[in-house]
Amino acid sequence: MKFFIDTANMEEIREAYSLGIIAGVTTNPTLVAKEKNVSFEDRLREITALVPGSVSAEVIALDAEGMIREGRVLAKIAPNITIKVPMTPDGLKAVSVFSKEGIKTNVTLIFSANQALLAARAGASYVSPFLGRLDDIGHNGLELISTIADIFRVHNIESEIIAASIRHPQHVTEAALRGAHIGTMPYKVILQLFNHPLTDKGIEAFLADWNNRG
Ligand code: E4P
Repeated sequence: MKFFIDTANMEEIREAYSLGIIAGVTTNPTLVAKEKNVSFEDRLREITALVPGSVSAEVIALDAEGMIREGRVLAKIAPNITIKVPMTPDGLKAVSVFSKEGIKTNVTLIFSANQALLAARAGASYVSPFLGRLDDIGHNGLELISTIADIFRVHNIESEIIAASIRHPQHVTEAALRGAHIGTMPYKVILQLFNHPLTDKGIEAFLADWNNRG
């Protein structure tokens, strides 16, 4: 499983990218709205200049025509822009147009296997099932990852599964185990993945031994 960072914050992206593990970035309107004094387009220019992998930029329009118009403009910002589209009939109409034009797409707000299958068949490059939000309403987000991964495997579907709405390290391990191609997560979760008390204890002991050598 590859790692994407789920943020529009440049400091977080820079820090995470310098770790050498980041293959892409996802943003959404909520994350972009947190960034003050910078336009969406300028922020996308900054991100795509740093990160060579897929950078998801979400459209705001809800009708296919509007999404196509917005998506075409965003796609011109950089060759690694992926147009993020919500999982609706209009969204999939837009995805099928983008796919014919060679524009990469990420279908977001996926909460069922059928939605993922529909998105894939419309030509989505990526499908984004939201783990955390399913868990929040008492469903099992990780089970959904397994089901989508099985269906895609059985039918040789090439769309990649992005495990999204990841809230903690256990989501990361389980999403990887169950066949998600990518996990997109906040910077905070990326940092949590590094932590183990035995690593800290080991470093401490090595240093103490080194300093006490004869
Ligand atoms: C993914 O592309 C979304 O931006 C994100 O993972 C949503 O996460 P949340 O449910 O924590 O807002």
